[in-house]
Amino acid sequence: MSRLRLGWIGCGTHANEMLLPQASRLDASLAALCDTDERRLAATASRFGVARTTRDWRELVAYADLDALVVAAGPGVHEAAAHAAIARGLPVFVEKPPAATAAAAERLAQAARARGVPVVVGFMKRYSTANRIACNVLRSADFGETASFLGGYMTAPTYFSGDPDYTGFYLHHCVHYFDLVPHLMGEVASVGARRHELAPGKLLLHVDFRFVSGAIGTLVLGTHQSRGTPMEWWQVMGDHRRVEVRNVHEVRYYRAPPFKFAKAEASLVDGEDTLVWEPNLTAAANEDHKGYYALLADFVAAARGGANDAPSAADGARAMRLMEAALVEEGL
Ligand SMILES: NC(=O)c1ccc[n+]([C@@H]2O[C@H](COP(=O)([O-])OP(=O)(O)OC[C@H]3O[C@@H](n4cnc5c(N)ncnc54)[C@H](O)[C@@H]3O)[C@@H](O)[C@H]2O)c1
Repeated sequence: MSRLRLGWIGCGTHANEMLLPQASRLDASLAALCDTDERRLAATASRFGVARTTRDWRELVAYADLDALVVAAGPGVHEAAAHAAIARGLPVFVEKPPAATAAAAERLAQAARARGVPVVVGFMKRYSTANRIACNVLRSADFGETASFLGGYMTAPTYFSGDPDYTGFYLHHCVHYFDLVPHLMGEVASVGARRHELAPGKLLLHVDFRFVSGAIGTLVLGTHQSRGTPMEWWQVMGDHRRVEVRNVHEVRYYRAPPFKFAKAEASLVDGEDTLVWEPNLTAAANEDHKGYYALLADFVAAARGGANDAPSAADGARAMRLMEAALVEEGL
C-alpha cells in the first residue's frame, strides 16, 4: 500500500515543532503545504522538503491527488477546511479546538456523521504514554468504581498578560481537559465553574463536575503559574485505590497495603504495594510522552478506513459543549 498523501494547512509553531516532525515516522508523505504567511510557508517547505505550496487553503483542498488533510491553523480555519474536506470525502485531522464555538463544533460533527468521513481532533492528551497507562489501570476490573477526579492544568500569563479577554486561554488551553476528563471518567451529568482573577490576565478557575456514574470531580485551570514548572497533575480515586499522573510522565498506582512497621519481613508485595512507572528519558526517542505520534498514527489508520478510537468530531463537540456550559455558569 502506498504512503498516505497529506495536504497540510498551517505552518505555524505547533505544526513545525510538534506535528510535522512526526510525519516522517508515519506511513504518510507531505504532498502539499499551505499557509497565508509566505515566509513561514517557504521556510516550512524547505525544512520538510515539500515542493508544492499555496497560500490559499481552498486551492489545496481541491488538489486531486490528496488522500487526507491536516489542519493546524486556528479554530476558524479548522472548521471551514474540515467542512470542505468532508464535502469531498477527504479524511481530515484538525488541531483543537475544532471550531470557535460549541454550536459550530456540533455542526461539524453532524456533517462528519452524515457523510461518514473520518474527522480526528488533536486531543493528544489521551495518547500521552503516562495518561494511557493510567487510563488503562482505572478501566481495569481490578480498579473498580471510579469515585472522583482531581487535577490541575495550568499555564502562565505569557499569552494573556494584561489582557482580560481569556478566549485564547479557553479555546487553546482549557479545551484539552474538557476532553480528557470525560475520557477518563465517562459522560458528564453537570458542570459548573468558580473564578478568581488575581489581576487582569491572571485567571484561576475551579471547575466542578458531576458524572453520570455518580462520581464527582474538580479541575483547576489557571493562567498564573510559571511555564518553567510542571503544569499538569491528575488523580482518579476508587475504593482504597488511586492512580495519578504527574507532569505527563510519571504514573503512580496506590492500592491498600497494610502498615509495615511491625513486620520484620516487610517488603514490597505484588498486588498490594504501589506501582510506579517512569520513562527512561535517556531513550526518550522510543517514547511518546505527549502523544503526538500515536494520535497521528491513529489518524492515518482512520484515514485508511481502519478501526480506531481516535478523538472524533463528536468528541470535539462534547469538549466544546462542556467548556461553554462551565463558563456560562460563571458568567464568563
Ligand atoms: N494539541 C496541542 O498540543 C497544541 C499545541 C499548540 C497549538 N495547538 C493548536 O494548533 C493551532 C495552531 O497553533 P500554533 O501555536 O501553531 O499557532 P501559530 O499562530 O504559530 O500558527 C498558525 C499558522 O496558521 C496560519 N494560518 C492562519 N490562517 C490561515 C489560513 N486562513 N490559511 C492558511 N494558513 C493560515 C498562520 O499564518 C500561522 O502560520 C491552534 O488551534 C492551537 O490551539 C495545539
